[in-house]
Amino acid sequence: MKGVILAGGLGSRLRPLTLVTNKHLLPIYDRPMIHYPIECLLNAGIRDVLIVTGGDHAGDFLRLLRNGKHLGLRHLEFAYQEGEGGIADALRLAEDFADDDKICVVLGDNIIQGDIRQAAGDFFSQRSGAKLLLKEVSDPQRFGVARFEGEPGASPITEIIEKPANPPSNFAVTGIYFYDGAVFDMCNSLKPSERGELEITDVNNFYLQRGDLTYDILDGWWTDAGTIESLYRATNLVADGGANKVEGRPHKSAQAAAGTSR
Ligand code: DAU
Repeated sequence: MKGVILAGGLGSRLRPLTLVTNKHLLPIYDRPMIHYPIECLLNAGIRDVLIVTGGDHAGDFLRLLRNGKHLGLRHLEFAYQEGEGGIADALRLAEDFADDDKICVVLGDNIIQGDIRQAAGDFFSQRSGAKLLLKEVSDPQRFGVARFEGEPGASPITEIIEKPANPPSNFAVTGIYFYDGAVFDMCNSLKPSERGELEITDVNNFYLQRGDLTYDILDGWWTDAGTIESLYRATNLVADGGANKVEGRPHKSAQAAAGTSR
């Protein structure tokens, strides 16, 4: 399975920080944001990665990540998204890279505490379709939200609603998605939403209508980092609880336990 990190968009909710750099190069505790989705893929054993980015600072990704070998990647490619046409618009640029393989897509501003190894293994064995990772949150209005047939987690999803005013559950669709090769036909058939974007939620609802969508509930904490509040929260979560480190360094509490300091 290959990995795709979507790190385009203009980061307008993080201005003025994003006037001089790309949102995904901003620091989360001791590393640039883009390190975390890379680590998420590496921890699942995915080492062939495409990063889709855009805007005025795309060249800085190359300066930071080079060929990705020092981070543990086997193959690193970049694609450039013109404008801010939405997550599904950015994903369309991965079609040649995916070359009909299954893919794991991670949004560049999503950070998790644990790993997605189990879900990746399960999707590898899934014959076709898509798989989502959900997480219970206190502010579902900010996300894509799942409606369930019965008990959340124990019954099928019947619908996904993007940023609902009246959420049907507290289970947000995280920005970690598994897709088969059919995803690109779906992205290419989408019409822009009211906010002028090709919505990943529409893609997920296509899979749902085909009866080819599974989901898991993510273990450990999950956050996005696309607003000032969530960027701050992400930094605190990483500092206190530590997401795993791409460069194999122990996190703060492990260092403290070992009697070292930084
Ligand atoms: O974080 C999970 C949520 O991400 C999901 O629950 C929502 O269903 C999904 O729509 C998305 O919501 P956001 O409104 O938070 O997405 P945002 O516009 O902040 O974009 C998230 C990432 O996607 C961003 O860090 C980079 C990538 N992206 C986004 C856009 C709009 C692109 O690569 N290109 C784009 O044009």
